[in-house]
Amino acid sequence: MKGLFIALEGSEGTGKSTQRELLSKYLKEKGFTVVQTREPGGTPLAEDIRAMLLTPREEHVHKKTELALFFAARVQHTEMVIKPAIERGEIVICDRWLDSTYAYQLAGRGIPRNEIDKLASWAVGDFRPDLTYLFRLDPETGMARAAARGKPDRMEGEMMDFFHRVADGYMAQYELAPERYGLIDAAGTIGEVWELVKERMDKLLEDTKPKRFKTLEELKSVVRFLQSENWP
Ligand SMILES: Nc1ncnc2c1ncn2[C@@H]1O[C@H](COP(=O)(O)OP(=O)(O)OP(=O)(O)O)[C@@H](O)[C@H]1O
Ligand SMILES: [Mg+2]
Repeated sequence: MKGLFIALEGSEGTGKSTQRELLSKYLKEKGFTVVQTREPGGTPLAEDIRAMLLTPREEHVHKKTELALFFAARVQHTEMVIKPAIERGEIVICDRWLDSTYAYQLAGRGIPRNEIDKLASWAVGDFRPDLTYLFRLDPETGMARAAARGKPDRMEGEMMDFFHRVADGYMAQYELAPERYGLIDAAGTIGEVWELVKERMDKLLEDTKPKRFKTLEELKSVVRFLQSENWP
């Protein structure tokens, strides 16, 4: 049985990591095996690339260098961690994935969409999350939440204008295929946001239930098993 790939997207401080924990706990309680992971990173090599990308440095990082490093980390993480877990029937919850590239490198840095499309197609083909949560919050509030956490990383050191472009970039991604997203108003309390996240997850689980039986034969074998005396 195939698993699920859930991505969490949104700018700094929108609550991705907080909600990832809550979602993971919820799904584990339902009996799923959950893999929590993040980008850039998620494997030892990709975490090394993360450190290269996020460490503030004197040297100017060319936007194409940045883009290539994000994709290098993504290929490693997707092939070594995400896809194998899905094949094992697990639920992968990933903090940031491809939409971050469109938000930060396209909308934020100004790399043309067709260039990112080409790299995305090369790196991950048409592999996409089953559901992407997009957390919406005004960038000022998000940055204030993130700032309370400590020293800014290289991306967080950008100007406010950059984060407004990022937020708009995320919405542009949403508009392209709204059905792939759970658009979440992240301005409420952690508990209020969680209710919205949970509601969307329940819908996904309900929608994917029938698809989880690959063939009619598989469904029939489950029915036979349930009708037998062999279960506790
Ligand atoms: N709904 C909320 N209301 C108020 N504070 C929140 C809320 N959700 C999260 N926080 C707090 O805001 C800070 C940032 O949250 P979190 O780390 O989950 O965001 P993030 O989207 O993962 O940020 P980043 O992109 O920087 O990793 C944390 O200190 C967290 O406890
Ligand atoms: Mg986070």
